[in-house]
Amino acid sequence: MQTIIGTDIQEAIRFLEQNEVVAIPTETVYGLAGNALNDSSVAKIYAAKNRPAFNPLIIHISGIDQITKYAELDEISAKLASAFMPGPLTLLLPKKSTVPDITTAGSSKVAIRVPNHSLTQSLLKSISFPLAAPSANPSGYISPTMATHVYQGLHGKIPYILDGGPTTVGVESTIAEVYSDHILLHRTGGIDELQLEAVSGLPVRIPQDEAVPETPGQLKSHYAPNTPLYRGDVERLIQEHNDKKIAIISFSKMYSGKNITSYPLSTNGSLPEAANQLFATLRKIDDLAFDVILAEYFPTEGIGAAINDRIGRAQAEYR
Ligand code: TXA
Ligand code: MG
Repeated sequence: MQTIIGTDIQEAIRFLEQNEVVAIPTETVYGLAGNALNDSSVAKIYAAKNRPAFNPLIIHISGIDQITKYAELDEISAKLASAFMPGPLTLLLPKKSTVPDITTAGSSKVAIRVPNHSLTQSLLKSISFPLAAPSANPSGYISPTMATHVYQGLHGKIPYILDGGPTTVGVESTIAEVYSDHILLHRTGGIDELQLEAVSGLPVRIPQDEAVPETPGQLKSHYAPNTPLYRGDVERLIQEHNDKKIAIISFSKMYSGKNITSYPLSTNGSLPEAANQLFATLRKIDDLAFDVILAEYFPTEGIGAAINDRIGRAQAEYR
């Protein structure tokens, strides 16, 4: 199959209406989209990504007015939706029977989000169905933040990549689920804990380490570059790996030394910029012949929590 990169929404719509899959831009990462209500389209998403069948997909809709077509919406979830959608928040809600089981991998819950990207907003407004869309990378590799990243991983397997430029947030959406007395944070992302607490009035809890996580995609080995990555005190790690060709991922500090190349994610110390650069930088390093990647811990406030989470999952010990 030939894979075309373009900016033609009509072309993307034609493929989607034929139950084909198309990569779409969002503000977080690129998604691999298909008709969420059509089994054959959803099956093509799993196949193209080589994604395990037990790992459910997020449904993308044009606006919060569409949520109740597909899910039950409680009062607090509705508040969060009004505050943060469109935007990098995914809500986990009780599924309605309009959503096929294959889309949620058999779960009675459905993950829903409203992407904040003008091209994809126009696309969603022009079609009569919601889009199931996981990140547009082969299962287990780093999520794509540019159309070319999607092409590198999926060319030959999908007909069209809708190019909406580089994504602005750069890490995947926050996934949250509202309970009567707390919010369960299944995945950190562009909306942080404090924002969720401020709007909901509920404390945020983080799932304890589970052998089988409730959000199946949160298995530890994920977002992994091919080059082994170690995280910790970088000066100490440099000593441990001193005979190797080293790439260093830091917040703003430059490291130097024999065989060391430094990749600060934001020289002026901006966490949003660092988040935005993380995946593209991991990919760049992976394309060069480094023996190891050494990474710092980032400050934990705001989107820093998501940066630490993604670097954690990229570590060599989880591969
Ligand atoms: O920012 C994002 O959320 C991107 C863009 C494309 O929207 N999408 C994304 O999808 O990151 P994906 O499939 O790579 O990650 C979705 C996560 C997975 O960990 C999956 O297990 C979880 O959401 N998930 C989806 N539906 C679920 C459900 N019904 N119950 C529990 N977890 C669910
Ligand atoms: Mg993913």
